Amino acid sequence: MPQVHLCEVGPRDGLQNAKQLMPTEAKKAWIAALAAAGLKEIEVGSFVPPKLIPAMADTEEIVKYALGIRGLKVVALAPNLKGFQRAIAAGAHKVTFPVSASRAHSQSNVRMTPEQMVDEVRKCAAWPHPGVEIEGAVSTAFGCTLQGEVPEDDVVRIATELAGFCDGVALADTVGYANPAQVKRIFSRVKKEIGEKLEGAHFHDTRGLGLANALAAYEVGVRAFDSSMAGLGGCPYAPGASGNVITEDLVFMFESMGVSTGIDIEKLLLAREILVKAIPGEPVYGHTPVAGLPKGFRAAA
Ligand code: COA
Ligand code: ZN
Repeated sequence: MPQVHLCEVGPRDGLQNAKQLMPTEAKKAWIAALAAAGLKEIEVGSFVPPKLIPAMADTEEIVKYALGIRGLKVVALAPNLKGFQRAIAAGAHKVTFPVSASRAHSQSNVRMTPEQMVDEVRKCAAWPHPGVEIEGAVSTAFGCTLQGEVPEDDVVRIATELAGFCDGVALADTVGYANPAQVKRIFSRVKKEIGEKLEGAHFHDTRGLGLANALAAYEVGVRAFDSSMAGLGGCPYAPGASGNVITEDLVFMFESMGVSTGIDIEKLLLAREILVKAIPGEPVYGHTPVAGLPKGFRAAA
């Protein structure tokens, strides 16, 4: 049976952009419920200066908590060596680095040029990190609200450089500019250069094309996807960025196609209840949670 692997990024991408802070204990309950629904990988937070993003100030505690959940791969984002060292000390299994292909977003997000950021990740890869996986995520790979067009050659070059020292590379549509034709073209170009090192796809649903883009990526061989429960998400340093592709709908799409996600939709909806209670008033999205499952629906597995 065909399978895909989903990484829930709501606790990081979602909460970094939420208007309300989710209390630490609620984060733990949410993450536990996500894992109980079958998510095997969760990006639980980021190691950035707490003053910059207060919602991520408890990431150490959250990583430590998540490490106690059996079978869960615990992912954290880091923007530099200091963040990477904090992630290693906390025990994260995998660290993802945002490397913007857009010069303007790179400066805005990490105060470095794309070249400086690639060097920063190289420095991290050379730092002792036994057992910790490193992912280079090429952000703004399909366009940028600050710069506009992002040359495809820049995306291919950065992905290829990252593949030289990262365990895996992901392509991210940080601001929801991508369309399915572009997704197929850029993923195929990068795949030709770096082969199996190309792993994940990270889409935002800003213009309603999140699922279409995920399906396009699936059709060119991508099997690992980031998504966010209730469509939370967005980058505080990319104006106009809104939520990620919605986990609930992505799971429904794949399961109804006969592609197994390993995720139980009913249990996913229980995790959604925890989320909604923990940050009431935060806009939540999702078609499947509102409409319910079709009569006679059968999951893939
Ligand atoms: N964690 C905690 N503190 C950190 C840190 C980290 N990862 N990186 C830097 N700092 C601290 C420094 O020690 C320094 O502290 P001090 O003022 O007490 O000496 C201070 O922050 C400034 O350090 P500096 O290296 O000059 O960073 P900067 O101000 O140029 O900011 C980044 C650069 C990369 C740290 C910052 O832009 C960042 O975190 N960006 C990511 C934003 C984000 O999360 N975006 C959304 C996800 S993609
Ligand atoms: Zn994102």
